[in-house]
Amino acid sequence: MTTISAPTGAAHARILGVGSYRPSRVVPNAELVEAIDSSDEWIRTRSGIVERRWATPEETVQMMSVAAARSAMERAGVEPAEIDCVLVATVSHMRQTPAIATSIAAELGTDHPAAFDISAACAGFCHGISMASDFIRGGSARHVLVIGVERLSDLTNLHDRGTAFIFADGAGAVVVGPSETPGIGPVVWGSEGERAELITQNVDWLTWGTAAEKGLPYLAMDGNPVFRWASFAMAKIGQEALDRAGITADQLDCFVPHQANMRIIDALARSMKLPESVKIARDIAEMGNTSAASIPLALDRMIAEGRATSGETALFIAFGAGLVYAAQVIVVP
Ligand SMILES: CC(C)(COP(=O)(O)OP(=O)(O)OC[C@H]1O[C@@H](n2cnc3c(N)ncnc32)[C@H](O)[C@@H]1OP(=O)(O)O)[C@@H](O)C(=O)NCCC(=O)NCCS
Repeated sequence: MTTISAPTGAAHARILGVGSYRPSRVVPNAELVEAIDSSDEWIRTRSGIVERRWATPEETVQMMSVAAARSAMERAGVEPAEIDCVLVATVSHMRQTPAIATSIAAELGTDHPAAFDISAACAGFCHGISMASDFIRGGSARHVLVIGVERLSDLTNLHDRGTAFIFADGAGAVVVGPSETPGIGPVVWGSEGERAELITQNVDWLTWGTAAEKGLPYLAMDGNPVFRWASFAMAKIGQEALDRAGITADQLDCFVPHQANMRIIDALARSMKLPESVKIARDIAEMGNTSAASIPLALDRMIAEGRATSGETALFIAFGAGLVYAAQVIVVP
């Protein structure tokens, strides 16, 4: 029998550099409250959101991705030609096909890498981190660019009380590459498809094709069950990610959860009994919920502000439409 060569990869993988892009237009709560009969105070108390960023027409999914990716590559010290794979986590690329990853890869000047999109909603970036780590350790790629990007303002119904103040825009990116020591812990991920209707596009594209007069499809969410699920079930997932990485909460330096609601962030930290010493990302106050972009945006900010430093450990937990989730411990680049 003929045998074929098996792929061989690096011993370990780690994040080499982070970059992000924040859209220029700041949208305070005051701008949204009238259409949803709400108040700045209600939004702040219930969600922790003070303002968010919405992209201008020029700040496209492609443009924001390229800006975040260039910054990540520069900080990683990795040239575009060294990127073997581009993964883009997004739900707001408006074409069914092709994936936006290919045109982003081309604009970045990469050398024809594998490039495709990940559809795992707010957890897409953490899915990408896990895939990148496995590709590098399995020998399929040496450097992987993982981008989380959204323009959720395009998919938001400004008259929907449950979502109008939540969703926002932005991009974050990392370069993942080979490492001599472990830099990305085992992923804990999964799905609960029986609860798919809790967060969903209000109408599928096929139906929308014959109902164009009703306006663009938008994201619809049954917020309270999602809130309860995220606050309780995700703490167990986070704990499992710590356990599988072989560290305790005392050994954790930073907590960078998906930025969905400040009360969810606080509930997770409480349930997981994170000590006071753990630095917690709270980017949601200024950025709202940017879905797949929220974790790299928040991590980049913590690094820029000197709150997260190279070599520290950070726990990612992401969850969202599907329902889907993914968590892992990483080492800060
Ligand atoms: C949306 C969310 C902030 C709402 O907070 P909540 O505490 O669950 O609030 P509820 O939906 O139970 O509503 C509580 C009350 O506020 C009212 N309310 C709802 N939206 C409101 C708004 N925008 N402004 C003012 N009042 C509002 C409701 O009518 C209800 O009033 P009632 O008590 O008189 O019936 C919260 O559910 C949430 O953050 N969910 C998860 C969001 C999320 O993370 N989604 C993405 C996952 S990736």
